[in-house]
Amino acid sequence: MELYDGPTPLTTDELVRRLQGKQGLVCVLTDPVKADVLNAASDLKVVANIAVGYDNIDVGAAQSRGIVVTNTPDVLTQSTAEFTWALILAVTRRLSEGERLVRRGGWKGWALDFMLGMELGGKQLGIIGRGRIGRAVAARAPAFGMKAVFAARDGRSSPDLPELSLDELLVSSDVISVHTPLTPSTHHLIDRRALARMKRSAYLVNTARGPVVDEEALAWALREHLISGAALDVYEREPEVFAGLLDLENVVLAPHLGSATRETRTAMAELAVSNVLVVLQGRPALTPVSPR
Ligand code: DGY
Repeated sequence: MELYDGPTPLTTDELVRRLQGKQGLVCVLTDPVKADVLNAASDLKVVANIAVGYDNIDVGAAQSRGIVVTNTPDVLTQSTAEFTWALILAVTRRLSEGERLVRRGGWKGWALDFMLGMELGGKQLGIIGRGRIGRAVAARAPAFGMKAVFAARDGRSSPDLPELSLDELLVSSDVISVHTPLTPSTHHLIDRRALARMKRSAYLVNTARGPVVDEEALAWALREHLISGAALDVYEREPEVFAGLLDLENVVLAPHLGSATRETRTAMAELAVSNVLVVLQGRPALTPVSPR
């Protein structure tokens, strides 16, 4: 067994070198495991990603080489849903903006019309993505008096969920929360056109994957006050953040913390290791994934 615990991801060459003679790889979302790596790792039987998202792995290439790929669903649903609500509350109540003001000594005292935000009661929460996390975020909406609706997928409806077309959801929601995986069809799903369809009073939250939102378009929409605010936990080129977002007050910027609790990260790591062990013992993986 070999452990890498360095501060930056391994280069492809270094990962390939270390995979020689190895049958299992436990990796994280910052490790690209594409065809070049898989082709060069002739003994590899299983790649266990410590993440529910697996856009860092070429699952099709792995499967065609007989390599099992696994992820960590369920164990992070609660922590990510809770963090989504932390962002919803932070952006609608201008928490980061207010804290920045206090820290730089700019607060002049209480005033009736000072730093007003938006109340959640009676508002509509639009959820894009109908997986476990989107549903868990929706399940918590009644606690804040919000009605949750989901974006319908083309040609596939879920009778158990209140659905609107994506366009209907964009024009009618007060908070829109993104929970869809990153695939070719969701890349820049939230672009200039989508942002321009949102209410001027609405907020966008993304705890899924950065490239689902076009950051340049978002900075434009925030700067022009086409929407009221945004809260991001994920970015197009992590850890880089689009420069046009950094000096805007109406955006909350978190450093990809959705699943970052001690309980969840421990459970994620344990699930990934269990996946490797069962596959190497010749048994079916606990949480295998297929190409999207
Ligand atoms: C995931 O599991 O995909 C998350 O982004 C990790 O926090």
